[in-house]
Amino acid sequence: MTSGRKKMNIEEIVSKMTLEEKASLLSGKDFWQTENIDRLGVPSIFLSDGPSGLRKQAAAADRLGLNKSIPATCFPSSSTLANSWNESVTYEVGKALGEEASYEKVSVLLGPGANMKRNPRCGRNFEYYTEDPYLAGKMASGFVRGIQDENNGVSACVKHFAANNQEERRMVIDTILDERTLREIYLTAFEIVVREGKTKTIMSSYNKINGDFTNENQPLMDILRKEWGYEGVVVTDWGGSNDRVDGLRAGNELEMPTTAGETNEEVIQAVKDGRIEEKYLDDAVKRLLKLIDETTKAREDKENFSVEAHHKVAERAAEESVVLLKNDGVLPLDVKKKIAVIGNYAKNPRYQGAGSSIVNPTRIDSAFDLFPDAVEGYIGYEQGFDRYGKKSKKLASSAIKLASSADVIIMYIGLDEVSEAEGVDRPEIKLPQNQIDLIDELSKLSKPIVGVLSCGSVIEMPWVDKLSALVHSSLGGQAGAGATISVLTGKVNPSGKLSETYLYNYEDTPSFKHFPGKMKSVEYREGLFIGYRYFDTTGIAVRFPFGYGLSYTSFEYSDLEVTETGVSFNIKNTGKLDGKEIAQLYIGLKYSNVFRPKKELKGFTKVFVKAGETVKAEIPFDDKSFRYFDISTNKWEIETGDYDIYIGASVKDIRLEGKIHKDGVKNTPYDKKQLISYFTGRVDDVDDAEFTALIGRPIPSPEFDFYKKNRMKLGYNDTVGEIRYARGAFTRFLFHVLNGVYKLMKKTGKRSTANLIEMSVYNQPFRGLSRLTGGAINMPMLDGILVIVNGNFFKGLGIFLKENGKKNKANKLKQKAEKEKQSASAN
Ligand code: BGC
Repeated sequence: MTSGRKKMNIEEIVSKMTLEEKASLLSGKDFWQTENIDRLGVPSIFLSDGPSGLRKQAAAADRLGLNKSIPATCFPSSSTLANSWNESVTYEVGKALGEEASYEKVSVLLGPGANMKRNPRCGRNFEYYTEDPYLAGKMASGFVRGIQDENNGVSACVKHFAANNQEERRMVIDTILDERTLREIYLTAFEIVVREGKTKTIMSSYNKINGDFTNENQPLMDILRKEWGYEGVVVTDWGGSNDRVDGLRAGNELEMPTTAGETNEEVIQAVKDGRIEEKYLDDAVKRLLKLIDETTKAREDKENFSVEAHHKVAERAAEESVVLLKNDGVLPLDVKKKIAVIGNYAKNPRYQGAGSSIVNPTRIDSAFDLFPDAVEGYIGYEQGFDRYGKKSKKLASSAIKLASSADVIIMYIGLDEVSEAEGVDRPEIKLPQNQIDLIDELSKLSKPIVGVLSCGSVIEMPWVDKLSALVHSSLGGQAGAGATISVLTGKVNPSGKLSETYLYNYEDTPSFKHFPGKMKSVEYREGLFIGYRYFDTTGIAVRFPFGYGLSYTSFEYSDLEVTETGVSFNIKNTGKLDGKEIAQLYIGLKYSNVFRPKKELKGFTKVFVKAGETVKAEIPFDDKSFRYFDISTNKWEIETGDYDIYIGASVKDIRLEGKIHKDGVKNTPYDKKQLISYFTGRVDDVDDAEFTALIGRPIPSPEFDFYKKNRMKLGYNDTVGEIRYARGAFTRFLFHVLNGVYKLMKKTGKRSTANLIEMSVYNQPFRGLSRLTGGAINMPMLDGILVIVNGNFFKGLGIFLKENGKKNKANKLKQKAEKEKQSASAN
């Protein structure tokens, strides 16, 4: 990569490393950096969050987005970018983001997230692309290629590998699912981003899959390394390391953040005991050194990037991602008409999600600032409603007053930043009632209302009929406001389409009965049928289907040709404006021995067509087009059959149909009689017997291991929230105090503090007290805490204090030895 640079001699370095050095390299030096070994010329590297911008913390470090980071461009969230259906857009964003990382000497950018949106309530959906693995894989690949552009010298880090689809109890939850669902739905996006995006780093997730933590999960790591040929580094999610030695053995090179040497000792001991061969360490060290070497350019001094140019990249990306959901003709706006802007989000845009992805933007555009210049007939702004849902007659009546004198009302609505946050799932998917009430009131004026919606995940929209138009700007990043205004005024013809299904009611979700997992596990009883795969197969009506989005022009599809290598067809722009159309290729097989969704996305293209002109669109088939994962042969197969080819403007709006025959196998891996729900797609209420048949083994008990009613012995991987069931009365009392605070916070509107308690206390496993405190609490001290929790207060306290003393003494000795070493080398 870097021209003229001397490459590291990795073999030589490893041969000179001591066991201690090897162990130390594989665990963080601090919260964000790896160890350096100066005598061998091994520098430490910096890892920082993304994915919607760089979050490099110069001062106090945390993984929750609490402390500020250095200013960086805030790009649209992944959920927004996915609506562009344009890999070159994610590439451009990734490239600019990588440039910022490189300027800040960040070697690994922690993103993008390639997890599936299994359920609309997952608190982190805004950070993920879509409910479809193919689209997610493609979007993520563009993003990764951009970050890893050779001028940047930065590595992306695709996360969270894998099947990490709820925030509740995220660090301990066991995801129970069948092999085929794992492969086809939850791993395919990762597979694409490994093979096509060529990511150099992957972050394992916090959860377990079928009983094992992902970073210790040998079958999962074997898929990654042996099947997909991945040669990069796997890093734990922060604090996600459980048994360090098992993780290392499974192939997880880097543990983050630091445990102040505690796990290094475990690794060294394990080598000495023969529990792990030193060769494992050598291989892991080599892969890490390769990453360090390949990111050398990221650590060189560089000219500053152009803040203005990156703002423009963010704006262009947002423009491509805006989805026009409804339009009775009021849009594009007649700018000469009297236009009132209403809604808190016009002035304080909601442009990003909360948690580790939070960016400190270089600047923020708002509709309030941009409207007066962009729209001639602008007559003013009113806040209209309280952002956090409090009812206010005063705010509403001022808005109604302003709206009364307008010809068109533009209403900025959405979800506040506390509603969509890492670490907490959403309790519901509704727009706050005060906003719905205002829509009601305004609609009584019988004037056109144009909604502009800001949120990063699906919401119910029973109020949409009251609007004349609805523009979904999602979470558009720092330049999103300008992009939306360009769409409103027609400067930009909208070309985004939904990357997830907008359902009528949350209860329609196929995983409704199994989300989130509340105790030990979460069962993916809906199997393959997430998102449109379920709605399309069962015919259950939705508000806006997957792949849907309007334009100010219209397109006609014709002349489908299906060949062995792919499909081609014509798209004619039949309107008066130039525009872009996203055409989607879905494939299905009606007469199949294996159950399948009616159709699945297997390709797409976004084409620009001038008004009145026709463009020939082509979508090639690839290795994913016809494959399914066969559990009887344990590999990908193509089933013999006549496949249906659908070309759609959305999953529901199929414009062209064709057929192609494929020869392959005709296996019968399933007993149809046992799996009726899966063969019909009605998977919303799968019973125990059927799920047992699907996973091919008894369903592990999801219940806590109570030794008597509501009492359990707590261990490393029980969460702090479970102290409500602790044996020790004092501990249970503590829980009630904490819960009192939590409830009070919720009641008094301090939702972000309540969220914090939920994420970092309730959902924190005890293990995290040691894995995340950088050595302040070590495992023997944690043992003392657990003795307290489990009912022996004084004994536990004694252990805790004794171990704390031992730790402090050892630290002092270490510091002394280091000082002596330093002064010896200075002399
Ligand atoms: C998140 C990761 C993030 C890491 C570092 C974790 O809590 O799950 O996505 O990259 O923290 O901030």
